[in-house]
Amino acid sequence: MLIGIDQMAFATSDKYVDMVDLAHARNQEPGKFLIGIGQTEQAVIPVTQDVVTMGANAAEQVVDDSNRDAIDLVIFGTESGVDNSKSAAIYVQRLLNLNRYARTIEMKQACYAGTAGLMMARDYIAAHPGKKALIIAADIARYGLETAGEVTQGGGAVAMIVSENPQILALNDDSQYMSADIMDFWRPVYRTEALVDGHYSANIYEDFFKEVWDRYREVTGNSINDFKAFAFHLPFTKMGLKGLREILPEADESKQTDLLEEFEASRVYNKRIGNLYTGSLYLSLISLLSNSTDLQAGDRLGLFSYGSGAEGEFYSGILQPNYKAGLKTDFGALFEKRQRVSIAEYEAIFNKSLPIDGTDLELDVSDDSAHFVLGGLQAEQRQYFAH
Ligand code: CAA
Repeated sequence: MLIGIDQMAFATSDKYVDMVDLAHARNQEPGKFLIGIGQTEQAVIPVTQDVVTMGANAAEQVVDDSNRDAIDLVIFGTESGVDNSKSAAIYVQRLLNLNRYARTIEMKQACYAGTAGLMMARDYIAAHPGKKALIIAADIARYGLETAGEVTQGGGAVAMIVSENPQILALNDDSQYMSADIMDFWRPVYRTEALVDGHYSANIYEDFFKEVWDRYREVTGNSINDFKAFAFHLPFTKMGLKGLREILPEADESKQTDLLEEFEASRVYNKRIGNLYTGSLYLSLISLLSNSTDLQAGDRLGLFSYGSGAEGEFYSGILQPNYKAGLKTDFGALFEKRQRVSIAEYEAIFNKSLPIDGTDLELDVSDDSAHFVLGGLQAEQRQYFAH
């Protein structure tokens, strides 16, 4: 039985900041941000959006009456959840009128939890043929204004339907994964911005990739030449290039050129959105599938997921004939409608948050074009609605 990703969709805010503007404001060479980091634009997430609203805005593109009742597992992967107890998935369940008879939970392990959810969904469907799962990976990446990590912020959500006979990617049962207690990036519960040991985190990412890749080759007998393309977790797009370069010398010369070309396709959207932690690998997969001109049904794709703290997983999937039909987001329209904000506007949006003492607050949602928005806080309850 083939099991895998049947549909994918993406949502983010309708505002962005340009990385050349940010470089000028921070007295940096634009080339460092554009090439050295590999980012051209960055989603700016207003206070009227959070992981719940972005998750719902992505998920509504893949849920309809044809699959609603079959979805009895909903997993929300995030490291920027809105409540220490209640899962973001339950809010989405109400907003989208999802199946009441569903297991509905949130999972956390830095940027890795979306992959954990996907793999658990695959195993669940293998045990319960005919069922479907909804996996949401949503985050807002925040390091702080004028920090080294600022150029690697961003935010958004990817939603995936996992099912039998998937339209997009059949997942092979070949995952290799590892975890170890490492303090490269973390966010204590009292903080709204991540703590990070930047260069160390990038080194650990590469080390984990190399280790799971070597195990993968050993266990499966596959080599780099068996892959049409790779998609990486992209905290910033240069990071994936560093990962790919680790293993590129193993490939034939013409294969190296092809893999580098496919990598460019896999980072087109991430360059313009920035980091969305749990969702970044899956935005990169959407980018690859949408922008590559050379993919064919039957191609083997390799995916590397990394979550600081740290956990890494490498797995492969086989591209399915109807994959384009499973991609539900119109990125042309998404980028077209985004509004470029100045550095001063971005900083004001960044500094605006819900009161942490639980005081009531009504937010002005008139400037937010998303379907689902956060309208404020009342009696310490977040007010979500469609508008
Ligand atoms: N033109 C072209 N390139 C230039 C340049 C110029 N004018 N000036 C500098 N560069 C290059 C540098 O040579 C360097 O390239 P290499 O990495 O290939 O050597 C690159 O630009 C970056 O320069 P620096 O290393 O000097 O940049 P920095 O010290 O300001 O920090 C960073 C970069 C560590 C990534 C920082 O942005 C950061 O801490 N980001 C957050 C942490 C992060 O994303 N870690 C990734 C792994 S952890 C993870 O994956 C989980 C997650 O999502 C967070």
